[in-house]
Amino acid sequence: MTAPATTRTYQVTDVDALEILDSRGRPTLQVTVTLVEGSRGVAGVPSGASTGSREAVERRDGDQGRYRGLGVLGAVSAVQGEIAERLRGQGWHDLAGIDAALIELDGTPNKQRLGANALVGVSMACARALARAEGRELWDWLTPPGVGPRLPVPHFNVVNGGVHAPNPLDFQEFMIAPMGAGSFPEAVRAGAEVYAALRSLLAAKGHATGLGDEGGFAPQLAEPEEVLELLVAAIGAAGYVAGRDGVAIALDPAASEFRGTDGRYQVAGQKLTSAEMVERYAQITARFPVWLIEDGLAEDDWDGWAELTARLGGRIQLVGDDIFVTDPAIIAEAISRGVGNAALIKVNQIGTVTETLEAIATCRRGGYAQFVSHRSGETTDTFIADLATGSGCGELKTGAPARGERVAKYNRLLEIAAAHPELDYGLATS
Ligand code: PGA
Ligand code: ZN
Repeated sequence: MTAPATTRTYQVTDVDALEILDSRGRPTLQVTVTLVEGSRGVAGVPSGASTGSREAVERRDGDQGRYRGLGVLGAVSAVQGEIAERLRGQGWHDLAGIDAALIELDGTPNKQRLGANALVGVSMACARALARAEGRELWDWLTPPGVGPRLPVPHFNVVNGGVHAPNPLDFQEFMIAPMGAGSFPEAVRAGAEVYAALRSLLAAKGHATGLGDEGGFAPQLAEPEEVLELLVAAIGAAGYVAGRDGVAIALDPAASEFRGTDGRYQVAGQKLTSAEMVERYAQITARFPVWLIEDGLAEDDWDGWAELTARLGGRIQLVGDDIFVTDPAIIAEAISRGVGNAALIKVNQIGTVTETLEAIATCRRGGYAQFVSHRSGETTDTFIADLATGSGCGELKTGAPARGERVAKYNRLLEIAAAHPELDYGLATS
């Protein structure tokens, strides 16, 4: 059992939802769950733009007369109607039981009937309400038996491209990771100082300093190596060492988004085969302090992924996002085939907290690292800060050290760090 249990049975008295806006100005859900003793849990539902084809499916209204079809009133009604009725029907003593009931009620393999956005909101709100009723901090309640909670290395996305920004940059995310920081607050400070140095550097070179969807800068650059040079310069200008002893770099090219129908990857006007992409990454990691590459190849390029893993997996972390979609079964298959060595963990990608915890446990059993993640569309919900801490995974990405919905997560971690000086900081050791 990976899902957290409670010490007694709780009755759900109310389950409600509201259509609110996410950070891109699109509708999403806020869900509130109330237990009989009055403990409440509220959750805001995230939403991606570069989604994997096997992700759990968001339910959107499709009514072109409202929010260009993106409204979520149907999902809101599902929460207020069918889901509320089911959860009020019996007492609950763990999250696994609630999530299993939600999955069964939906009845589809990809949660499309009630909507993964409805289900994940209810699941997150239930987790909060149960943790609160138990008098526990959410991160503490989410910590599996035998696992040590720890504060994760924050991966600040400081340059945005791909579908997250209107620039010619094909790679989606360029992150800085203060792996050498002595504590979580020192890591936040390093991230913010490098971000500020990067802004100055971009401005000095005549680049615009407008932001992409995750709060990183979105300069009119096309070549990934040009951005990497700027990052190394910004890290140095802020007074840090570039590399694992100081501030390292992580990439999420999100390669499914720039692979053509001919199977070639289109990077800065060039068309590259899978093998040429692997070679490009080998050169990049030889030249720059890149310690992690997520979705370096596309979700349907398993052979390319195996080659990439054989070539670079011994030196750096290779994280599967679109290819694994936080699905325990797909992660298990990847482990058996030697594809990647880490999984991105996104709660809405699989659709319930219990399945998310199962994905994390599957990784741990198979020796794969777990990289907890936000989505490009976010609310000020901070659930993933607690998930990253409680799971002991040691690494989290939640955007730039700027923009309220991104900073909310980092600030929640600063709160946890201040209240719990006993928690270790940094990558998981096992
Ligand atoms: P998304 O991007 O939320 O738009 O899917 C994040 C990622 O690819 O990691
Ligand atoms: Zn990704």
